[in-house]
Amino acid sequence: MGGSPSHPTAPPLIAFTAVEKAFEGPPVLDSLDMSVPTSQTTVILGPSGAGKSVMLKLMIGLLRPDAGEVRFANERVDLMSERALFAVRRRVGFLFQQGALFDSMTVLENIAFPLREHTDLDTAARLTCVRDTLALLGIDGLIDRLPAELSGGQRKRVALARAIVLRPECMLYDEPTTGLDPIRSDVVAKLLQMLQREFKPTSVVVTHDIPLAFKVADQMLLLRNGRIHLGGPPEIFTKSDDPVVRSFLDGHATEEELRAIESEVAA
Ligand SMILES: Nc1ncnc2c1ncn2[C@@H]1O[C@H](COP(=O)(O)OP(=O)(O)OP(=O)(O)O)[C@@H](O)[C@H]1O
Ligand SMILES: [Mg+2]
Repeated sequence: MGGSPSHPTAPPLIAFTAVEKAFEGPPVLDSLDMSVPTSQTTVILGPSGAGKSVMLKLMIGLLRPDAGEVRFANERVDLMSERALFAVRRRVGFLFQQGALFDSMTVLENIAFPLREHTDLDTAARLTCVRDTLALLGIDGLIDRLPAELSGGQRKRVALARAIVLRPECMLYDEPTTGLDPIRSDVVAKLLQMLQREFKPTSVVVTHDIPLAFKVADQMLLLRNGRIHLGGPPEIFTKSDDPVVRSFLDGHATEEELRAIESEVAA
């Protein structure tokens, strides 16, 4: 969170070295180097399709790089067996871009799911954990609802509850405020700040929501053309007069981007 002390000597929790990833066509990530400092919040910005969600998936081995190294707590995630990855994922809360809840399960069952998968808690202990987490996020009243009976904002909060129920040391958020009105977005921003204060997880927040980015970031990374175009504390973004950075923060297209979009439309 802005203003929290930095520990430049602590090793990063997550580190990419010369990471390459392509699907069909040009590389999405092109010799990408970056690191996520422990107990801090790193915000990843970048245009749609830049590879932000791909970066999050590489961090927990949901995707593997074509080349380069991905480390989590100094271990090579890119080389890990599925079994070892399960142990890494136990330490990580992941809020997916689509907020994917299990449609046929109630809120209680959805949030209890990671507890069933990863702990030996009995039914009563799981219920206590779920209740505590719902209360923390201010949504106790939703415990017996099905996902279809929730609004978009409620669904985000339930997905957030599921991501934090194991009190992970690391949180990955993919577009936590997309689809929410500004008030609901601010509520989510406040929840993230509260979680940072309470549990001090290492966090990575992928977002297009610039106000959110500045509320939560210790470090910001702008991903563009497969690499980090600019990375550092929020102040270097506010002070930057690089037209790419400015256009991103101010939400208008550069000449180059307009030409690219025009040629896409013409094609
Ligand atoms: N599993 C996959 N198979 C094939 N292509 C993929 C896959 N996952 C991602 N891509 C491609 O990789 C590129 C980066 O995708 P990614 O989802 O990381 O973008 P993003 O930066 O998260 O964009 P957005 O802001 O729209 O969510 C896109 O061109 C996408 O089509
Ligand atoms: Mg994405």
